[in-house]
Amino acid sequence: MRNVITYSAKNLQSQNSFNVSTMKAAMNPNKALWEKGDFTRIAQGMRESGEALVQTLGITKGLKVLDLGCGDGTTALPAAKLGADVLGVDIAGNLVDAGKKRAKEHGLANCRFQEGDATNLQGLADHSFDLVLSVFGAMFAPKPFDVAREMVRVTRPGGRIVMGNWIPNDPTLVAQILRISSAYTPPPPEGFISPMTWGVESHVVERFAAAGVSSDKISLARDTFTFNYPSPPAALLGEFRKYYGPTMNAFEAAEKSGRATDLQNELELLFIRQNQSTRKEATCIPATFLRVTVMH
Ligand SMILES: C[S@@+](CC[C@H](N)C(=O)[O-])C[C@H]1O[C@@H](n2cnc3c(N)ncnc32)[C@H](O)[C@@H]1O
Repeated sequence: MRNVITYSAKNLQSQNSFNVSTMKAAMNPNKALWEKGDFTRIAQGMRESGEALVQTLGITKGLKVLDLGCGDGTTALPAAKLGADVLGVDIAGNLVDAGKKRAKEHGLANCRFQEGDATNLQGLADHSFDLVLSVFGAMFAPKPFDVAREMVRVTRPGGRIVMGNWIPNDPTLVAQILRISSAYTPPPPEGFISPMTWGVESHVVERFAAAGVSSDKISLARDTFTFNYPSPPAALLGEFRKYYGPTMNAFEAAEKSGRATDLQNELELLFIRQNQSTRKEATCIPATFLRVTVMH
């Protein structure tokens, strides 16, 4: 029953398409996973929700913002457009380059990007940011307790941390992609902690508590991110299959076991069912996430 996943860290290990084929790579497997694809292809359909989320953050001119696991700047660029002084940090070199290019194209000198690992933000001073933002970013780093500690360390007293995390077992798109994919991939190595555990409220509270933040400083809410794409759902799935590291890994494993067509069919059905676009040639899929706000 590998598809039956409860809210425990142990069982969440079965959502393993994040790491399996890349664990063998000599380099950091977490970095290899995200450099393997091209997340820009997926992020293009996430820009509107990224902007909408940033609009709710009360960003003012000169606010020092760290966007952790920033990708190519879906939230970093809108924050900079509102006048914040933004540093985007990401483990994937290709996405850091893409972010720099996009910031330049938008004329945003106040939006910088650099490579870095959310588990160890060496080089970033204690208490140096007013807002640490991480939308579906830091959740993908291993060692979640280190990640929480680092986010708290670089946030100034009186500052905020805002995370967006996908929720395990949620019926909407991303959780379901990962649930389906897990049935086609081998079990993860011993000790692997699923990124999806960041979508479980008790784990979030526990991790920030270990970093010295009491639970009354943490608020948790469900929110929605919408994937918009100018072609039908099967074409959007095609983008995930070709460019989204976790889905690429699932298809690689499924091809080895001769089950790639089954995986394709299962995912295609999911994308079609979740599509809410009223236009035949377009895709619009809302997905639920856990919004975490920590007052430091
Ligand atoms: C799903 S993408 C989201 C990107 C971006 N926040 C967005 O909303 O478009 C996950 C991002 O987290 C980054 N990431 C994964 N592990 C990381 C780590 N240990 N440190 C920093 N970034 C990491 C990946 O490279 C990738 O850009």
